[in-house]
Amino acid sequence: MLVVRVVTVGRARLVGAAVRRRLLSALTGSAPTASILDTPARCNSQLAADAHRSRHKNVITGPDAVALRLHRGHLVVQHPRWPVDDAFFSLAWLWDHCRCRHCYDDSTFQRKTDVRQLSSVGNPLQFNVNSTGTVLEIIWHDGHQSEYSLQWLWENSYVGARHREQRQSRLWQRCLWDGRRTSAVDLTSVVYDSFMTTEEGVRRLMKGFLTHGAAVVTGVAPTPAATQAVVERVGVVQHTMFGGVWEFTADGRHADTAYGRDELLPHTDGTYYSEPPGVQVFHCLAHHGHGGETTLVDGFAALHALHQADPAAYELLSRVPCAGEYRDPSRRLHMVGDGPVIAHRAGAEPAPDSLLRLRFNPYDRAAARRGEPAEVEAFYGAYGRLTELLWDERRRLRLKLRPGTVILIDNWRVLHGRAAFTGRRHMCGAYMARSDVLSRARSVGLLI
Ligand SMILES: [Fe+2]
Ligand SMILES: [Zn+2]
Repeated sequence: MLVVRVVTVGRARLVGAAVRRRLLSALTGSAPTASILDTPARCNSQLAADAHRSRHKNVITGPDAVALRLHRGHLVVQHPRWPVDDAFFSLAWLWDHCRCRHCYDDSTFQRKTDVRQLSSVGNPLQFNVNSTGTVLEIIWHDGHQSEYSLQWLWENSYVGARHREQRQSRLWQRCLWDGRRTSAVDLTSVVYDSFMTTEEGVRRLMKGFLTHGAAVVTGVAPTPAATQAVVERVGVVQHTMFGGVWEFTADGRHADTAYGRDELLPHTDGTYYSEPPGVQVFHCLAHHGHGGETTLVDGFAALHALHQADPAAYELLSRVPCAGEYRDPSRRLHMVGDGPVIAHRAGAEPAPDSLLRLRFNPYDRAAARRGEPAEVEAFYGAYGRLTELLWDERRRLRLKLRPGTVILIDNWRVLHGRAAFTGRRHMCGAYMARSDVLSRARSVGLLI
């Protein structure tokens, strides 16, 4: 016979399933809304078998037919509107996510939970769903009371992850491109006034930026101040050794090829930083001369191609460090940034679906002195293969930046280059940290 234990705060009783409901009524003074069940300690194999049997025997359903039960350190929720049979919530996770005033500060959105307690969270004394079927209420072994909106639980739990991904994919989807099928007119373009005065303008620009890795604002006054206003509408100027909003003409002021007139093949910037800038902003304030077209390459599209053609090269470039450096002794600068050429989202498989960042700047590579000596040749083979893909002219999107057009480029995905030019070319621009830009995208509902 299956024995269940019903526990009240501070007092435990062993009862049979038949009296459970009556006892609950007496304890709460109202009709029970869900189960108060706790399987006694058993070995794991017994528990697994019991879990299967108990699914129908031990469950009391509450309002809206929400059913709760305990199983091996988890609260299992069956909700008629959740597209999973059983939603498992670790008790430690539930404890950690209590939003009562002792555990969470609503005004600062910060936790106050003592995380040292989380490895030994005991079974709760009581748990139920409230009378409207919207809130899970738990009384823990020490009398602490937690309440969770079931909606919040679904939206923030592991079990809702797939659902969240589906919702996210309906908001925007990354669109891979190359120069054969995509041109500058395919990039999202938002007029300055709409961008500066409406959230919808910001949303359109951000959506285009996330989708294609680049987007433009038109009708901007050709000044550094107006460029800065564009930047600050969606983030913060990231200060570097080049300044905040930088300005340059081809005068060789910095020890960098970008400050010359020669062609620059596509690359990403800041491979010499621990975290390369997330966004590159350019504004051509004036150009009296020829050439100087900007080239863009979708690095992620090239990485998809590399993964398909040469998965071993892709794997190697995802693993072997490739440091970049920036040296300017006159300013006592020697920056070194390390990391693999290809990076993926934390915890995800190293595959194109989970791409996070491409660091690619052959010009700025530091002396290669880390990694396995036996892999050196394989690394050059893989890096060369990737370079062939990234520098394939058919991948390049070309555009002539003109005064009034500000372009934002995802420096973790899209490479930029520049054709050689003549005459006086006056540029300004800025870097932005990725976190700031993603924060803004979240503020207009584009990131869940
Ligand atoms: Fe650059
Ligand atoms: Zn709490």
